[in-house]
Amino acid sequence: MRALVVDPAAPGAVRLADVAEPVAGDGDVLVEVRHTSLNYGDLNDARSGRVPAGAVLGSDVAGVVVGGALPVGTRVVGLAAGAFAARVVVPVHSVAEVPAMVDLARAAALPVAGVAALRALRAGGALLGRRVLVTGASGGVGRFAVRLAAIAGARVIASVGSAARAEGLLADEVVVGLDNVTGPVDLVLDNVGGAQLVAAWQLLAPGGSLQSIGWTSGEPAVFPPYSTIGPAKSLTSFINDGPVGADLADLVRLVESGDLPVEIGWRGPLESFAEAAQALRDRRVNGKAILDVTG
Ligand SMILES: NC(=O)c1ccc[n+]([C@@H]2O[C@H](COP(=O)([O-])OP(=O)(O)OC[C@H]3O[C@@H](n4cnc5c(N)ncnc54)[C@H](OP(=O)(O)O)[C@@H]3O)[C@@H](O)[C@H]2O)c1
Repeated sequence: MRALVVDPAAPGAVRLADVAEPVAGDGDVLVEVRHTSLNYGDLNDARSGRVPAGAVLGSDVAGVVVGGALPVGTRVVGLAAGAFAARVVVPVHSVAEVPAMVDLARAAALPVAGVAALRALRAGGALLGRRVLVTGASGGVGRFAVRLAAIAGARVIASVGSAARAEGLLADEVVVGLDNVTGPVDLVLDNVGGAQLVAAWQLLAPGGSLQSIGWTSGEPAVFPPYSTIGPAKSLTSFINDGPVGADLADLVRLVESGDLPVEIGWRGPLESFAEAAQALRDRRVNGKAILDVTG
């Protein structure tokens, strides 16, 4: 079957290849992939060695069950290694059913980015009436985080890199950078790292929490002396791990009800991966990049 595999010698360390068909074990479903989405993490994975040379890249899948632990024909979304392929095996505890009225292409945007936003917000505690700051709010995780925080009753400040990146963002405040944000904020979801993480830390209220989700800036974070001394507040590392099926089902319900719009900033065939990857690196994708998979 056709797939995108890691190849350190290829441009972007990824190339199209014919690979062996995956085989579902007990507790797995075999999914015919209709759509997948590109995550910033996929770009890192291709170069870091986390996905080994020759292995299929990708994590987000939406498609139709063709074998394994769920009835054939079930429409599903899931998170699994090797999603950039015609077919992929997904543990049944990491899939959720997709009702007929939810577009599979939009569902494909949910696993990595949506679950990260949902879990990082939950880790921050009750949100009703709280001030939540989301950095990198123009991207995949960021847009879901802004919307989910608003659904939970938070007052949301969305930080973006430029005014153009704010298109479609529905937040109480949209800011370019953090220079003009007045504190305190109760929760920070940080996707950028570096200087923005330090600035966000300084805006955090006593008792507040900063969830460090990503580090797209690639810059070190340099804390001024004594900026970590004072009333207790926390900086917590974050990782998506363990089964995601239940959280995906929550997200699918919110998409179905219309409360969680899925913003697609780039869409094209799997074969145009390099174009999607370049757009994501260039910060031109407002929301998610979706790759359509055929055959
Ligand atoms: N810990 C986990 O389990 C987990 C899960 C999902 C994602 N992540 C991480 O979270 C981060 C966001 O992921 P994503 O999929 O939402 O990425 P994305 O769609 O590319 O969004 C990243 C955002 O970061 C901002 N940014 C600021 N400085 C940047 C720079 N120098 N280069 C590129 N972008 C920059 C961009 O906003 P502006 O252009 O508006 O500045 C962009 O919208 C990534 O680091 C990813 O690896 C971690």
